[in-house]
Order: sequence, then C-alpha cells, then structure tokens
Amino acid sequence: MALVPYNGNVLPALSKLHNSSFEFRFADHHVRISQDWNKFGVAAVVWDAAVVLCMYLELGQVELQGKVVIELGAGTGLVGIVAALLGAKKVTITDREPALNFLEANVKRNISPDQLAAVDVLELTWGQGLQRYPAGGFEIVLGADIVYLEDTFPSLLQTIMHLCSESTVVFLACRIRYERDTNFLSMLKKHFMVEEIHYDKDRDIYIYKAVKLTTRRDL
Ligand SMILES: C[S@@+](CC[C@H](N)C(=O)[O-])C[C@H]1O[C@@H](n2cnc3c(N)ncnc32)[C@H](O)[C@@H]1O
Repeated sequence: MALVPYNGNVLPALSKLHNSSFEFRFADHHVRISQDWNKFGVAAVVWDAAVVLCMYLELGQVELQGKVVIELGAGTGLVGIVAALLGAKKVTITDREPALNFLEANVKRNISPDQLAAVDVLELTWGQGLQRYPAGGFEIVLGADIVYLEDTFPSLLQTIMHLCSESTVVFLACRIRYERDTNFLSMLKKHFMVEEIHYDKDRDIYIYKAVKLTTRRDL
C-alpha cells in the first residue's frame, strides 16, 4: 500500500488531486495540465515531486539544452514537458500503457506543433521490453514520485541501469513516505553514486542525483 484512492470529502487537504487542471509558469511558458484522478488515478494527477523537480530544472543547474532525456513514470508529463520547454533536443516521456492517452493529450496541449517532433510519448513499464530502448542511450533520466511501490523496486532499478551509460545523470524527486522507500536508494547505491542535491522543506521532497559507478577495469 502506498498511494491509494481516497474520499476527497474525508481528506479535504488532499482535494487538490481532484482539481480538473493546474496552471504553472515554467520556462517562460504557461503550462496547463489536466488531471483526472477518478478515471486514471495516480498517473493523472500532478504530484508535488513533479513540481519541485520542474522548479529545480528551471534553476538552470541541470544543462538540458540539446540533451537526450527520458522521463519514467511521467503521469501527466509535467516534468518531460518542462524539460522540452527548457531546450532538450529529444524527450521521451514514458509511463504504463493505460496512462498514455491522457499523458499524450497533456503533451500536445503544452508543446507547440513545431516542437512536437522532439517529444515522444511511449509505453515503458519498468523491467519490460527494455530492448526497445537503447542501452545507455540517454544523457538525462528524470523521475518524479516513482519510488513508492516496493514490488517495483527491482524492475525500476533494472530499467534505470539499462537506460544509463556511465555519463548519464539521473534525477529522482522523491517523497519518502515510508522507511521502506529508502530501500530503493540503498539498492541504487550498489550501482550508482547517489547524492541528495536538494530538499524542498515546504513540500517535503528530496531530489537525488545518481551517476553509474564506473566499472573497474583491472589491468
Ligand atoms: C505517483 S505517480 C507520479 C506521476 C508523475 N511523475 C508526477 O510526479 O506527477 C507514479 C507514476 O509511476 C507510474 N508507474 C507505476 N508503476 C509503474 C511501472 N511498473 N512501470 C512504469 N510506470 C509505473 C504510474 O503510472 C504513475 O504515473
């Protein structure tokens, strides 16, 4: 159990998940994201981790200009959209198949037709069909609030391992809800150098940067 549907009347503090849309200002663009919790659940709402990651990207400390980027578990696609608006050369925005239509509609609403060719919306269920994605073929891997289902930790790690070369930089924005969520970080640290690079106190979101450990080549 991690993110479960709830009754908005019982938990009014979480009622923003029931808004039909959100407006943001990122990368000098008006970004309007539709939400539909009732129909599509967790994949169709904007989570705080996505907002914090976009704010971090906008600070300019991550060079996105001209980069080949992939977003995992994109949900509404906010992070991938902002990465494209910030100048990434190619952004592959991914999620499970049931989330794709809603995700694609948000992408089309926010990316101009002349920039759409630089954005792909594709199915990527962690650990499955990875051969469809070039091994080590991405310069930046992004993920917001994707560390929450313990059962998926091995396949999420396998996916990140597949997508990264030793020069790929991974940025994960996480809310640590349960102690077990840190198990994923421990798993990641076996293969990646992991650094906490940002903490948003108001929203309780951490951003971690990870780079694959260099394979030792003994002479
Ligand atoms: C909490 S939501 C976060 C959505 C979005 N990144 C955000 O922060 O607004 C988790 C996302 O991970 C996706 N997800 C969960 N399990 C997955 C899996 N096994 N493979 C691919 N995506 C998965 C869900 O569909 C959902 O979009």
